Amino acid sequence: MSKEKKQKSSIWGGRFKTGPSNLMEQFNESISFDKTLYSEDIKGSKAHAQMLAHQNIITHEDFTAIQNGLNKIHEEIANGSFTFKVELEDIHMNIETRLAELIGEPARRLHTARSRNDQVATDIRLYLRNQIDQLDTTLKNLQKNLWKKAEENTQTLMPGYTHLQTAQPISFGFHLAAYIEMIGRDRQRFQDCRKRVNECPLGAAALAGTSFPIDRHLTAKLLGFKKTMPNALDAVSSRDFALEFLSVASICAVNLSRLAEEIVIWSTDRFNFIRLSDEFTTGSSIMPQKKNPDAAELIRAKPGRILGNFVSIATILKGLPLAYGKDLQEDKEPLFDTQKTLSISITIMSEMIKDMQINASAMRDALQRGHPTATDLADHLVRKLQKPFRDAHHISGNIVALADEKECALENLKLEDMQKIEPELDESVYNVLKIDAACNARSSFGGTAPDEVKVRLAEAAIRFNLHDEGD
Ligand code: ARG
Repeated sequence: MSKEKKQKSSIWGGRFKTGPSNLMEQFNESISFDKTLYSEDIKGSKAHAQMLAHQNIITHEDFTAIQNGLNKIHEEIANGSFTFKVELEDIHMNIETRLAELIGEPARRLHTARSRNDQVATDIRLYLRNQIDQLDTTLKNLQKNLWKKAEENTQTLMPGYTHLQTAQPISFGFHLAAYIEMIGRDRQRFQDCRKRVNECPLGAAALAGTSFPIDRHLTAKLLGFKKTMPNALDAVSSRDFALEFLSVASICAVNLSRLAEEIVIWSTDRFNFIRLSDEFTTGSSIMPQKKNPDAAELIRAKPGRILGNFVSIATILKGLPLAYGKDLQEDKEPLFDTQKTLSISITIMSEMIKDMQINASAMRDALQRGHPTATDLADHLVRKLQKPFRDAHHISGNIVALADEKECALENLKLEDMQKIEPELDESVYNVLKIDAACNARSSFGGTAPDEVKVRLAEAAIRFNLHDEGD
């Protein structure tokens, strides 16, 4: 460890004889990651300065100088000419120091009635609000692509599964429409979370408010926040809004992973229900025939990271006394990583859905196995022969066993063979054993019958606003 005496911080060095050690500097810094917040930090500072001027705490000339200086810094960071310095610890001090270089004294008045504690809380809230809005657009886009594929495939029949065993005939469109609903709930959860993100902590200062005559409602308004946080101590301490974002993101990632897994299964050569485009698959370095669904597998794996990020912040917050503790600096990387991971996963899923080709004949072939109309046979026995459902289930099961014995589909059994099990059966049984009839018959609200699916898709498009200008 270097023992050389370091320069004291120009921002908080007053009561120190020396600066922190190199090791401490490395350990303590956040600039390597919180520079992500530069735009939000500048926005927050401008609003704060405007309010200070409005309240006559600083002059209007100072405000103008601060605003121009901050605009210049925004430009420098955006075009890559800004030099971030580790010795300036974080984004707040990097910007403030540069501002002083650019405009001199007015920069040193900016931090009046403010602390990095309320500043950073404001930055994260602005960041998350913006990210939630972007995620909503991305999720909606995924819904649109699912919707389009669903609409094209309301008559494309495939086995519906329970326990991944053939259950009943459904359409591929019906299956995709299930995900439109799931993603819709993810969007709702993000919107709900957004309400609690969209509250303004600025002006809470270090923890207890300030003796300057600030107007917290004005800064809240300038930054587009819906509400001013009513307790300063809570405003700087709480990160439950970030935890909530991570929990919603975790649920969303988990939902995506289910679709990803189905894509992996459907694209195996055993199923062969879909073909993924070359863009979202990779080859093997040894097996020339391979086309691996890497994109779907990665989406399947990402909840590991995102749930890890949730646990990370939950653990940081657990038992943390009010108000600020440096522990809270550790909230950023899990948040940034979650946003990045989730956003790219949704986009890739969306593109994969758009590009995938559907193999309708393989889906139909699969319906020839596993007796997907056995329930329809039982229902027929109830309707036609007034059997109690439990008895009908039993008889249908015996007929399934007979078909297995003869290695044929139910609809290929001879009537006289079926009559040995249930003498009252007649020719009309063949109507219900047909795959298409079985699918069409499930026309109850939310069922798989193509006409019903079309109605529900039309309604979903309105409910989720999927036919907007973006189409
Ligand atoms: N870099 C810090 C963070 O991310 C900013 C707040 C520092 N506040 C303090 N009292 N040291 O949390």
